[in-house]
Amino acid sequence: MCGIFAHLNFGELKERNSVDVCMEGLRQLEYRGYDSAGIAGIKDGQICSIKSVGKVSTLDEAVKPQQLQFRLAIAHTRWATHGRACEANAHPQFDQDHRLALVHNGIIENYAKIKQTLVKKGVTFSSETDTETIAQLFAHHYKENLLKAAVNTFSELDGAFSVALIHKDHPDQIVVSSRDAPLVIGINDQTNEIFVSSDTNAFTGQSLRVLFLKKDEIALLSPDGIELYNKKGKALDITFEELCVEECQTATGEFDHYMLKEIYDQPLVLKEIIHSQSDETNHSALFEQLVLTPKQIKNVDQILIVACGSSLHAGYLAANMIETAARIPTRAEIASEFRYSDPIITKNTLVIAISQSGETADTLAACELAIDRGAHLVAICNVKHSTLVRMAPSTILLNAGPEISVCSTKAFTSQVCVLQLLTLYLARIRTFGASEGREFLRKCEAIPHLAQEVLKRAGSIASLAEKYARFTKFFYLGRQQMYPTCLEAALKLKEITYLQASGLPAGEMKHGAIALIDESLATIALCGNHVTNDKLFSNLMEIKARGGPILAFAPDGSESLQQVADDVLYLPIGESDEQNIYIYSIATQLFAYYVAKNLGTNIDQPRNLAKSVTVE
Ligand code: M6R
Repeated sequence: MCGIFAHLNFGELKERNSVDVCMEGLRQLEYRGYDSAGIAGIKDGQICSIKSVGKVSTLDEAVKPQQLQFRLAIAHTRWATHGRACEANAHPQFDQDHRLALVHNGIIENYAKIKQTLVKKGVTFSSETDTETIAQLFAHHYKENLLKAAVNTFSELDGAFSVALIHKDHPDQIVVSSRDAPLVIGINDQTNEIFVSSDTNAFTGQSLRVLFLKKDEIALLSPDGIELYNKKGKALDITFEELCVEECQTATGEFDHYMLKEIYDQPLVLKEIIHSQSDETNHSALFEQLVLTPKQIKNVDQILIVACGSSLHAGYLAANMIETAARIPTRAEIASEFRYSDPIITKNTLVIAISQSGETADTLAACELAIDRGAHLVAICNVKHSTLVRMAPSTILLNAGPEISVCSTKAFTSQVCVLQLLTLYLARIRTFGASEGREFLRKCEAIPHLAQEVLKRAGSIASLAEKYARFTKFFYLGRQQMYPTCLEAALKLKEITYLQASGLPAGEMKHGAIALIDESLATIALCGNHVTNDKLFSNLMEIKARGGPILAFAPDGSESLQQVADDVLYLPIGESDEQNIYIYSIATQLFAYYVAKNLGTNIDQPRNLAKSVTVE
């Protein structure tokens, strides 16, 4: 989950300082981890580096007074896996003689064994990281030839990795390689620069020729250009792609945090999705990049959805919608479990991968398994040039704009929205007549307005959040579509407030969780499923009888809830279960936000988390 960035000048033009370029690159990659950051280059024939614990801005403060000038540099922002967040464990890591510096994203699974062997040979280690093992092993294999050392080193490693390395004996070169962890090389022919990055986010605003490294490829970058090799050191031809990453608006504007801005983005984002993907003529939806014929869709015998975190919750909601409307057996699977399972996949199985970033390692591995077994993969993603989008034959882009806050908000509701439209599309081919399609679409079109109406209640939500911020434990209870909505609400709260929160199907309470009820645990009931609301009312009575405080999120007009709940937050009335998903999700996002604000946590970059989880 770390971010790698590297830069090299070539050609005759006036050179840019690689330090400045790498620091800017790191700022764009910081969402991948912010435990520590570091940069290294070569000066007067020696490896020269600066590292610091914490965010890229801390590294920036350490770098500026040094006024370093490098012609090439490698840089890193870390999400700690092996070893605490401290300077010794920050990247770059070095060999014992400080002849080389290396940055790494991924996990080396056999590092302990390699380390043991090297220690026995007299090598001294100075960090707790798996990364140092690569650096020391490289130095061990190095006999004046970078490529040979790279081939020998990387072939000994188990696990996923992408690396960039510099060596003091080769002050003009950078070695890069990757296995199951993305790395992209970009060339700017106008400015004579080469860039390396964990993803294309760091190339924003540039037009480049790019090369996405494939599994186990090794590239040597130098002022002469790029040489590409396979894992055995055999030279390969290079085919570049043209890439232009548009500049995106990423400021918080009038809002205190990205999370709040992104919550407020939702009405417009949802409106654009519905507007651009509705097919009014056929009372259906349009997906330009879905390469499935109606015949293939008619033959689909099951749909498996793979995802993690909030995207998985969107998957649970979608599974329900698709089964109900299109009558196709559909299951959402936890990608980290699915990747090690033995799933039944037929030639008519459709696998849908949902990922905001398109870089989540578990989701990508689940997709590889599905593709290997012959499934057709549909990627639902927010990042156009991501690994997921590049691997899937069919893609649906969210176009929700960059989501900067670690806590997903607009990407989640956009995923649900796109999946709702996909449900319509499948249903129109399999089960729905024109009038059912028209009615479904009409209800979709009301969603942006309902989202806007929820935002108008932010004041009441903030007051309730202030009151409930004194609790340390929360249950979110709901039934039917409100159950995955509860899972998502609980994830939001724990992620940014660090408070204990669980989402539960209300009917399950009496089978165990009710034992936890006392005056210190607040229950938040999401009363957004009209079919089961009476049942939910009874479940709340059982909690009240045991002294548990209750806050109900309920539709306008449900005054009877005041008999059981200590507080009621009234919300717009949704006409359908699907509409309620948005209403209750946005309300619980705001609730989590304001509780976190009361507690003073780091809302956009919560502790221990990173936006993109690129390791297992
Ligand atoms: O980029 P992805 O959608 O694949 O990310 C999956 C999860 O890591 C992500 O949804 C995570 O749970 C969010 N931080 C939740 O707010």
